[in-house]
Amino acid sequence: MNIEKIFENNRVWVQNKLSGDKHYFDNLAKGQNPEVLYIGCSDSRVTAEKLMGAKPGEVFVYRNIANMVSSLDFSAMSVIQYAVEQLKVKHIVVVGHYQCGGVHAAMKSKDYGLLNPWFRTIRDVYRHYEAELDIISDDKSKYDRLVELNVKEQCINVLKTSIVQKAYRKKEVKIHGWVWDIHTGRLIDLKINFDDVLNHLMKVYHLD
Ligand code: CO
Repeated sequence: MNIEKIFENNRVWVQNKLSGDKHYFDNLAKGQNPEVLYIGCSDSRVTAEKLMGAKPGEVFVYRNIANMVSSLDFSAMSVIQYAVEQLKVKHIVVVGHYQCGGVHAAMKSKDYGLLNPWFRTIRDVYRHYEAELDIISDDKSKYDRLVELNVKEQCINVLKTSIVQKAYRKKEVKIHGWVWDIHTGRLIDLKINFDDVLNHLMKVYHLD
């Protein structure tokens, strides 16, 4: 992509916005009030706002390789705290996608250097669901299922934080696990029951 073309695209976009509403940017500058925190993959094909049809100001976005939520990731933890406590988002969505390069890499026996600790947390998801995954003979189906299970585990990691536990109990925030099907463009709700998940988690992860 030509860098100069980006600035030209920007000029066209600004003109289009202002021709529809001359106060468009004045209104954007007043502040944000997003109701959704989106945690997704950095993959260039998985454009958070576009696939949801969201406008600027509607979604607070955090993306990394394979939509991971690690308690040691200061950035992810800061985003979650800020979104829940300051922005008071009503929904946290973790969005994985089929054909995720990060998930695929974690299924391979290969040394990725600096990326090893990142991929290891995905390998941990595989180990956790090894019995279910190992009976899937078709590699593509196994890969797709790991994408889904990784979303579920990252939602659980969201629920392990004290900030979300408190807000979830007060019914201030809901959690959703979705997968974006890159073959069809459609979002799929994994329909995870987080009340059940929370009940299982509390013996070990309860923070109050
Ligand atoms: Co990905």
